[in-house]
Parts: sequence; structure tokens; C-alpha cells
Amino acid sequence: MDEIVVVGQIARDLVLVVDEVPGPGGTAPVRERREMLGGKGANIAVGLAQLGAAVQLVGVVGEDDVGGRLIARAGADGIGTGAVVRRPDCATGLIVDVVADGWRYLEDLPDGVLLREEDLPIDLIERAAAVVVQLQQPPEVALRAARAAHGRVVLDGAPERLRAELLACADVVRADHLEAELLSGRKIAGAEDAVAAARDVMADGPGLVAFAVDGVGNVFVWDDGQLVVPLGDVEVVDTTGGGDAFVAALTFALTRGDSPADAARLAVKASGATVTHPGGRPDLTRC
Ligand SMILES: Nc1ncnc2c1ncn2[C@@H]1O[C@H](COP(=O)(O)OP(=O)(O)O)[C@@H](O)[C@H]1O
Ligand SMILES: [Mg+2]
Repeated sequence: MDEIVVVGQIARDLVLVVDEVPGPGGTAPVRERREMLGGKGANIAVGLAQLGAAVQLVGVVGEDDVGGRLIARAGADGIGTGAVVRRPDCATGLIVDVVADGWRYLEDLPDGVLLREEDLPIDLIERAAAVVVQLQQPPEVALRAARAAHGRVVLDGAPERLRAELLACADVVRADHLEAELLSGRKIAGAEDAVAAARDVMADGPGLVAFAVDGVGNVFVWDDGQLVVPLGDVEVVDTTGGGDAFVAALTFALTRGDSPADAARLAVKASGATVTHPGGRPDLTRC
């Protein structure tokens, strides 16, 4: 399979599992601690590498020790890191994921870790079989990457600006429940609403739209078909990274030529395999 490029966030993830989050002046013991390569871009790239894709990561870390360690970790995960930018005078992003009754994130993501247009490896993007653009980057930069791509363009999330321009060059759009409402401008109360919202978004460009519906599952809509896939019957520990694993698997399957329905099922299997453990790092080796 030709190379897949992922454009997105890279951060150090610190995951702390506690029984209860203390109030002001309180203390709580940490039951489990995990420190890992994280950020949505890196998570998607890890998932793709685990599935067997050749993948290149485009994102920014600082010139600090943590940045060096994250790049080494990504390399050990089988990800190409030649296009990861090391920004001088900028601390590598840190995300603390406190898992108790659901997640709480504490994020330290300085402006310097956002991608700039001059950071984009245009040659690499032009050559890629697929380019995943995770939309937590400045919309202008996301658009530059999406427009440079000749292969399949996969967008994850909802852009703050340039919605029409980004949708016009997207082949696949995937969004969580809230992002789906933002993208479509509709309230989504169930699978039927989500399908209608996805059809609306499809009319603006993409050939496949996947929306998560909280508590229900994921809907997939494409030119001549649609599918509603319920959530997997697994014990959910932390939904963090579920979307990243989903995007990785969806992109992987479509790139190798799976039908939309088969790609959809692999995507939900991948998210189901990721929400069973704390932290966002996918575990797709058995998917
Ligand atoms: N039990 C489950 N089985 C399969 N998928 C699940 C399950 N629980 C949650 N998911 C999926 O995980 C994804 C979480 O997405 P999102 O909130 O975007 O995560 P993140 O942005 O942290 O990666 C959604 O698509 C959701 O449907
Ligand atoms: Mg998400």
C-alpha cells in the first residue's frame, strides 16, 4: 500500500486513573498512571502503523527532551517522522487525561505546536495515497494540506473557519457527535437525524461521511448506501482516542480498497478496541 500521511497534533499524554477527582484543597491517590505518545495526529498514525500501513506523521513538537522522546517513540512504532517539525523556543504539548467518571483533559498546547503553512511537506502530501487532516490545526493550514493532496483526503473534526472550502476538497469526513452538529448546523438526537445531517454535509463535497451519535453508535453515508453500526459490546473505560482509532481504521480500509460498508465495520471495531483502556493510544494489532 502506498504511503498515508497524517497531519495533526502530537503531544505527550499523561493518563491518570483516579477513583474520584478531588475538590479544591483535596488529594486523591492515582490508581494507574500511563505516559505515552499522544495527540490526535500521533494516535491516528499509531493506529495506521499497527494496521500495517506505511505512514508519515506531520506535526510539531518542541526542541526539548520530551519532543525528542516522542519522535523516537513514533519511530519505534513504525511511523515515518522525517516531516515532524521541531519548533525552537516552544514546549512540546502536554495533555493530562484524568480518568474517573469519564475523562477530564488538562491541555498545555502552546501556539508554537500548531502547524504553519511553511511546515507542510508538500511533496510528501502530493505523493500520498491518502492524507488524513485532523482539524485541530489552523483551518488555513488544514486547507493548504487538503488542497495539495492528490490521493484521498480524510478530514476528522469540524473546522472553525473555511468549512465550505475544506468540505469541497474532502473525500471522507468523520466527526464526533458535537462536531457533526457543528458541521451540519443541525441538532442530532438519533441515528435518523445523523443520517440526514451526513447527507447534507455530503452535498458539500465528500463522498463518505461518518458521524458518531452518542449512546447509539456511528452512522455512515456514501453515494449509494448508508449503514448504522451500533457501539461494540465492550466495557468502556475511557473514550479518549476512540475517534482516532476509528479514523485510522476507516482510512486504512478505504485505502486498501475495502467497500464503504467493510471500512465502516473495521472503523467501529477499532474504536471499540480503544475505549476499553485508559488513554488515547490505539491498540489495533488484533483488528
Ligand atoms: N463501545 C464502543 N464501541 C465502538 N465504538 C465506540 C464505543 N464507545 C465509543 N465508541 C466510539 O469512539 C469514538 C470516540 O470518538 P471521539 O469522541 O472523537 O474520540 P477522540 O476524539 O478522543 O478520539 C466515537 O466514534 C464513538 O462512537
Ligand atoms: Mg475526536
